[in-house]
Amino acid sequence: MEIRQPIIATLGHVDHGKTTLLDRIRGTSIASSEAGGITQAIGTTVIPAETIREIAGPVIDKFHFSVSIPGLLFIDTPGHEAFSTLRKRGGSISDLAILVVDINEGIMPQTQESINILKNFRVPFVVAMNKIDRIQGWQSGASFLENVKRQHDDVKNALEESFYKVVEQFSSLGINVERFDRIQDFTKKVAAVPISGQTGEGLPELLAILTGLSQQFLKERLKVTGHAKGSVMEVKELVGMGTTIDAIIYDGTLTKGEYLVIGGSSPFVTKIRSLLLPQPMKDIRTEKKFRHVDSVSAASGVKIAAPGLENAGTGAPIASAKNEDEAQKILAGMEKPEDVEIRADTEGIIIRAETVGSLEAMLNIFSKYPIREAVVGGVTRETVLKAFANTDEKLRVVMCFNTKSAEDVVAFAKERGVDILTSNVIYHLNNEYTALRKAKDEKARKSELENVVRAAKIRLLPGFVFRASNPAVVGCEILGGILKPGAPLMKDGAAAGKVKQMENQGETVQEARTGEKIAVSIDGLNIGRAVKEGDILVTDISENDYRRLLRYPDFVSDSERAVLREIEQLRRSEKPSWGM
Ligand code: GTP
Ligand code: MG
Repeated sequence: MEIRQPIIATLGHVDHGKTTLLDRIRGTSIASSEAGGITQAIGTTVIPAETIREIAGPVIDKFHFSVSIPGLLFIDTPGHEAFSTLRKRGGSISDLAILVVDINEGIMPQTQESINILKNFRVPFVVAMNKIDRIQGWQSGASFLENVKRQHDDVKNALEESFYKVVEQFSSLGINVERFDRIQDFTKKVAAVPISGQTGEGLPELLAILTGLSQQFLKERLKVTGHAKGSVMEVKELVGMGTTIDAIIYDGTLTKGEYLVIGGSSPFVTKIRSLLLPQPMKDIRTEKKFRHVDSVSAASGVKIAAPGLENAGTGAPIASAKNEDEAQKILAGMEKPEDVEIRADTEGIIIRAETVGSLEAMLNIFSKYPIREAVVGGVTRETVLKAFANTDEKLRVVMCFNTKSAEDVVAFAKERGVDILTSNVIYHLNNEYTALRKAKDEKARKSELENVVRAAKIRLLPGFVFRASNPAVVGCEILGGILKPGAPLMKDGAAAGKVKQMENQGETVQEARTGEKIAVSIDGLNIGRAVKEGDILVTDISENDYRRLLRYPDFVSDSERAVLREIEQLRRSEKPSWGM
């Protein structure tokens, strides 16, 4: 019976070195070319047996076994917190996992989350204690076991200290970790290999351990039988191919022209149009030169084209069938996976992403806001109109991850005041949106305060009444606060006209502050009767304006606040219910 490659997921906290480690094995440099330096999609790569022998041969010889599996299928997952669904998906389909921990940082939130995923799905794992090259004074080499002997004693001690500090953290989580070369019984302890993804040190040991453990404990699982079984990793639109899925096949054989059963919340049956494989050692995410093949056997990461795949859900189980009957039977027996929850609030931001996986991450990161719609695809005029329909201006936004918008759509959005934010790094979108909301708040505050009557206290200067009425024109001193045209005035709680215009040394001005002396024309005031020169007037602030001013405390100066308090007291004695 045929034995397949074990599926090995790399899991761990963001930046702890999962992609770099795989890069080192593949001889690629995907990590350094990733947008924002982080992984934002699941990737698969097949490492053939020859490569394992090339890298790990001497170590494997030393442990007295030989490579009998056809290779290893690696799954790379993102470590950023937004990608918990992808991390979970990677963990759920793996036979074995590498939990990557930066030896200098230890267990971090997503390390912890990864541990929970592995426990949940009962996936055995080894720990890669990464970045040992960062240990002060460390001399890098290829094989860890050979190289560690060469280190100075204090450097060796530094490694032991860091290593067992992390072991201690694992132990407090109830996980018994030990250095791989100090383990007698691998069923009792979790093996940890000190490595450097950067220099490649320890990779011979890591690959040897993965191969050895697979061959010793997973052989039964690795037998390939019957129809293909797999899981959808990503749903993605591809120019010229329509919607395709990236799937992991973990059992059986998939053949072009066969029926394909897709499970999930709305299961369906379709027929395989094309099967595309990346080259060995190449990652399915970045591969450009896919090979069209007639059949694919487990374990593989494969791109599948078939009608109707836009209805496939990520994480859904898939299977192949020889005929319609068999397909229906398989479909009936499939378990329902958890649904991806796509919220549909009546008001809310709109989200667009390139793949369902990244869409899920977007939903995670923007879950603190109402979300009206989140789908895979680009932005159209209709999308813009939906965003525009929000009554809250801050929600009039379309968030695009890795999708481009046509120029005319961008122009259309601009006309309507809808913001289209586009980035290929998810957390940048989050930062941009936070900034946008702040800017919109600022703008709203400005426009709200523009028409507010401000608090001012003025004195009509004796000897400066230029005109008694229609309108009254009089020299005033601003005793406190800020006076603007349009402000209604009062004296002792009684209306005393409305400021029409203000002049300072012959120039019309829009505001005057404490200490300034200006000429003011006042409509509806007759100086000489109830109001006389020398009198003190204050602005007549409505309850609404009063509350608005209080809402923006940093906008109101101490002098204005003092006047505001006076006006409030004045008002209180007039109408006791006012003000609170
Ligand atoms: P995500 O996929 O975003 O979760 O990150 P990751 O775990 O794939 O980490 P990645 O491989 O992108 O590495 C993150 C950073 O750490 C990069 O700058 C790497 O160059 C660096 N790095 C990774 N491994 C090592 C290592 O062994 N030694 C040192 N010194 N740096 C490393
Ligand atoms: Mg990565």
